[in-house]
Amino acid sequence: MSEWIRVFAPASVANVGPGFDVLGFAVSRPGDIVEVRKRRTPGVVITDIRYIRKQDIGKLPQNPKKNTAGVAARNVLTTLQERGVVDDQSGVEIKLRKSMPLGSGLGSSGASAVGAAWAVNLLFGGTMAKHDPDLILACVKAEATLSGFHADNVAPSMLGGFVLIRSYEPLDIIPLDAPENMVSVVVNPEYKVSTRMARAALPSHAPLKEVVVPHYANVAGLIAGILKKDLLLLGRSIDDKIVEPVRAPLIPGFYDVKDAALSHGAFGCSISGSGPSVFAITDSLERGEVIGRAMAKAFEKHSLQSKTYVSHVNREGAKRVD
Ligand code: HSE
Repeated sequence: MSEWIRVFAPASVANVGPGFDVLGFAVSRPGDIVEVRKRRTPGVVITDIRYIRKQDIGKLPQNPKKNTAGVAARNVLTTLQERGVVDDQSGVEIKLRKSMPLGSGLGSSGASAVGAAWAVNLLFGGTMAKHDPDLILACVKAEATLSGFHADNVAPSMLGGFVLIRSYEPLDIIPLDAPENMVSVVVNPEYKVSTRMARAALPSHAPLKEVVVPHYANVAGLIAGILKKDLLLLGRSIDDKIVEPVRAPLIPGFYDVKDAALSHGAFGCSISGSGPSVFAITDSLERGEVIGRAMAKAFEKHSLQSKTYVSHVNREGAKRVD
């Protein structure tokens, strides 16, 4: 039997406030580990899934057609076959080590897809570059089987740093360097929000002058903040006039958690992905710990225990580990 290849794929904060479906960044922790090895029969099998949270055990389908890791692995395998890198008899076995909860807003399913896609690519010689649109698309399509067609989790998880998805057709992915001192605080309450439902709650239209104009001004401010390495500008541009107001009621205590973050010095705060995790931005790990404690305490007042991740932006994205 061939050797196992293990890949770590980081969690991500998608949307980053106003950048619904177009902005995301990777965090240093948590992340998933995906292990793959070649098998002698064609196709993809998932032989083991380990979970970090007791209540998640058994919740992910082991059927590779219904699991984002399995779908992404199959998509990459198909591309490699089309490119003549592997023959049609090649197969892959996958083991998945979840180290983040499901339905958390941390890009959990996206990280599994990315880990599997990158691992399968490495397993067969690493011929695809990380920014290869087919590699990212393999993950986006996997994510779409679960929650919707969006790249703002998988692209940062694969590439690291901040990523702007300027266009989906064709896919135009712009990696951006995160400011060196940017620290993210992500607080994940013990509560579940389904991305599919959180997407279904969104409005199809918004008034131009009152909502759309300030909204795109904030997206532009965010990008300017990233490029100018101005964390205060980045933070105050985390002002979402469209998605946050609709999704906030899905997260018990959201506005109290946000108030706690901002009153303890966070530069900006909003929902991470489709929630229920809430993220905040600051400029030091020490301040991040203080903000994280205040946010967790605010969740507690709403009877929710939570887990806090304070970390620098992950700049490497998916990577092979021993
Ligand atoms: N952009 C996606 C959404 C991210 O908000 O639905 C899901 O984590």
